[in-house]
Amino acid sequence: MKKCLIVYDSYHHGNTEKIASAMAGASGAELCKASEVKDKNLSEYEIVGFGAGIDKGKHYSGLLNAVEGLSLSGKTVFAFSTSGRGGTGSHGALHKLLEKRGAVIAGDFGCKGFDTYGPLALIGGISKGHPNDKDLEDAKNFVLKMVK
Ligand SMILES: Cc1cc2nc3c(=O)[nH]c(=O)nc-3n(C[C@H](O)[C@H](O)[C@H](O)COP(=O)(O)O)c2cc1C
Repeated sequence: MKKCLIVYDSYHHGNTEKIASAMAGASGAELCKASEVKDKNLSEYEIVGFGAGIDKGKHYSGLLNAVEGLSLSGKTVFAFSTSGRGGTGSHGALHKLLEKRGAVIAGDFGCKGFDTYGPLALIGGISKGHPNDKDLEDAKNFVLKMVK
């Protein structure tokens, strides 16, 4: 298995942290908060995953700003997210940045995450119970493909 670092930003309900931890458990990857990635030597890792919750159609700015400061020339990476809506349709901004920094994107993973942002709180939120066991299982299967 490839040596993997997983960089994440998660603050709303810890949804993305649950996915990042499941991925790390399955692949032996090291976990790193986005705010701390500047202290890492990325040349030690063969693949790096970047994930966060989605805020207005993009990964959290904490993750995007962290990626801005990295040199990823030729580095294999993957992107992941949790969001109220689920899926990977909001990965465009992160992709653009990763490519600008020289990274080669190997894959994407996205799933639903409990979302009580703004007026959604009034109706008890959406995607309650996510990430669920199936989401965690899907995340593990995805990362195993990435580190193979
Ligand atoms: C400020 C804010 C903006 C959000 N914007 C979106 C959005 O544009 N699309 C979406 O599907 N979910 C949106 N969400 C929901 C989060 O992406 C979702 O709850 C995610 O799982 C939170 O991840 P976290 O618990 O790891 O922080 C938003 C949440 C917050 C707090």
